[in-house]
Amino acid sequence: MIRIFLLGYMGAGKTTLGKAFSRAMRLTFVDLDWYIEERYHKTVRQIFDERGEDGFRELEKRMLHEVGDFEDVVISVGGGTPCFFDNMDYMNQMGETIFLDAGVKVLFRRLKVAKQQRPLLAEKTDEELMTFIVEALQKRLPFYTKAKHVFNGEQLEDRHQIQQSVERLKELLNL
Ligand code: S3P
Repeated sequence: MIRIFLLGYMGAGKTTLGKAFSRAMRLTFVDLDWYIEERYHKTVRQIFDERGEDGFRELEKRMLHEVGDFEDVVISVGGGTPCFFDNMDYMNQMGETIFLDAGVKVLFRRLKVAKQQRPLLAEKTDEELMTFIVEALQKRLPFYTKAKHVFNGEQLEDRHQIQQSVERLKELLNL
């Protein structure tokens, strides 16, 4: 039985790699944000607006435990998931955990064009976005680095790179 948790900051490539890797390995792919949105019939943004971040984190934890029971699965969790409650310990206990690491420059470039659906970023100017990423990473790294493996998430820019990253990840996990 294989159960893999992909974690890392917003824009690190969790969904991109998770989708490609699960397809190559014939595993089920679950993106925790999408799972939450389907279960609650609301976008993450709406949930943040209605319940605040604290309310979202409670619900996120509950949903993590729901998908954490799935088997033969790749689960990409939200950027904040590992940093609340005992979520990181839970994931380490339930399966392989992979911290998808990407530098601030790469994260900024990716998030600049994909911030609208992310409530924590949507209203920020470029300068605010950069500062926010740097500060958030500092706070979050101690959680992310509790993962069992670290994987470079910068090489996910086109199909060829994604394919190569899938192969590297297979090697890392001896699959
Ligand atoms: C968040 C990341 C998002 C989503 C929510 C909060 C965060 O997930 O869970 O907007 O706190 O970093 P992605 O990392 O998949 O964008």
